Formats: sequence, structure tokens, C-alpha cells
Amino acid sequence: MTGRDNVLWLQLWRDRRTDFHQQTANQLLTRFWPSLDLAKGSRVFVPLCGKSLDMIWLAKQGHEVIGVELSPIAVRAFFRENRLKPVRRQVGNFTLWKHGRLSILCGDYFSLTGDDLGQVDTVYDRAALTALPEDIREPYIAHLRRIVADTAKVFLLTTEDAEEKDSPSQAFGVAEEIKTLYSEGYEIDLAHVESVFEINPELPGNPPERTEYKVYRLSSRAAG
Ligand SMILES: C[S@@+](CC[C@H](N)C(=O)[O-])C[C@H]1O[C@@H](n2cnc3c(N)ncnc32)[C@H](O)[C@@H]1O
Repeated sequence: MTGRDNVLWLQLWRDRRTDFHQQTANQLLTRFWPSLDLAKGSRVFVPLCGKSLDMIWLAKQGHEVIGVELSPIAVRAFFRENRLKPVRRQVGNFTLWKHGRLSILCGDYFSLTGDDLGQVDTVYDRAALTALPEDIREPYIAHLRRIVADTAKVFLLTTEDAEEKDSPSQAFGVAEEIKTLYSEGYEIDLAHVESVFEINPELPGNPPERTEYKVYRLSSRAAG
């Protein structure tokens, strides 16, 4: 299988339509990551990493970071914009770019194998699961579970439209989709919810909409 929207993503990077990219490390990452209490040197996998500065922050915490990203434009920009000079080599169907504790495998997530990836202690997902079309999210998680050991934790940040929420009594409940997709294999801990009123950039004349930024900590049931 390959990502269904690969052509679209490659084009977005060519056209520099990358609004999802954040100019600083994500604040929910820097605030809640320490609660995982991970050992320095533990290895963090960042699927669909783009050129995220979160990887720089994670490496500064002492982690080995391994991202996977489809677009070579994104990977080149990541190293160039951070003034890093990576070495490159072929790993399976991927080009591995590496500098110090930072590595990115350039290619399609869905063709990544456990051997390509190596050991992973924690998965960091921001705008990866939720960037995929809904019908691809289940295969994305199924694939994650094939290539990452059962013992790995998942730290997941999501952006959710609060207007779509089921009922007020579930205001701080786990979003239905995350529950459906992850609950079979993982214990789900919703660590934080932040509600923000924002203008939808696609509908600038409309009143602000409530958006929820959520932090999930998932640990595999198989890890015991
Ligand atoms: C919404 S962006 C998020 C990037 C990053 N996580 C961040 O926080 O800035 C999604 C990224 O996934 C990449 N991508 C999409 N499908 C992919 C696939 N099948 N394999 C690898 N990367 C993919 C896109 O090129 C894009 O850079």
C-alpha cells in the first residue's frame, strides 16, 4: 500500500502550501512531554514529520529522533533551515538523512518496515494521524503496530473541532475516533484539553469557532 494522497502532499511542498508547519516547537509538546519521564537516549519515532522543529526540541532533550517524510523538499529544508549538514545513505526503499541524533527516512510511511526503522521507544504524532483521510487512519495505525514494538508509548497531539462533539457531558471525553482506532491495543490517557476560539481561515467572515487542542498519552496493553 502507498499513501493515497502522496501526489497531493508532494505538490503542496512544491507550492510551499505548508500552513501546518509551526515556526517554534509545539507548546503542548514542550509542556507535557516531560510527564512521560523517558530516559535520555531513548528513541523517538516521528511519523509524517515534515520539517517540524519539534524534532530539534526532542533531540535537545537527549533523544535519538527518527522521522519519516514523503517529500524530499521537506527533508532538505529541515536540515538546511537548521544549518545542519546531514549524511545520506540508502535504507531499503528510503533515503536516510542523518545528522547527530536527528535522522529522517525519506519515502512513503506505508512501505516502511520494522527493519528500516529500528527500535522505537516512543512515537510522537502531531498532525500525522489527523492529516490522513479518515479511511486511511485505521491502516495507518495497523501499520504503526506492525513496525513499532508493543512496548512503545504514543504521545499524540490532535486538533479537534469542538462543534462536532457529541454532547456536553462528554466535553472532556476521548474523541470517538481516537477511541475506536486505538482502544483495542492501547490504554488511552487524555492528559490535557485546551479550548480556543479561532476564526476559520477558510471562512473569515464567520464567527470564531471553538477548537480543542488535545494531548493523549497512549501505552500499549501488551506492554503490561
Ligand atoms: C500535516 S503535515 C504534518 C507535519 C509535521 N508532523 C508537523 O507537525 O509539522 C503531514 C506531513 O506528512 C507527510 N506525508 C503525508 N503522507 C505521507 C506518507 N504516506 N509517508 C510519509 N510522509 C507523508 C506530508 O508530506 C506532510 O509533510
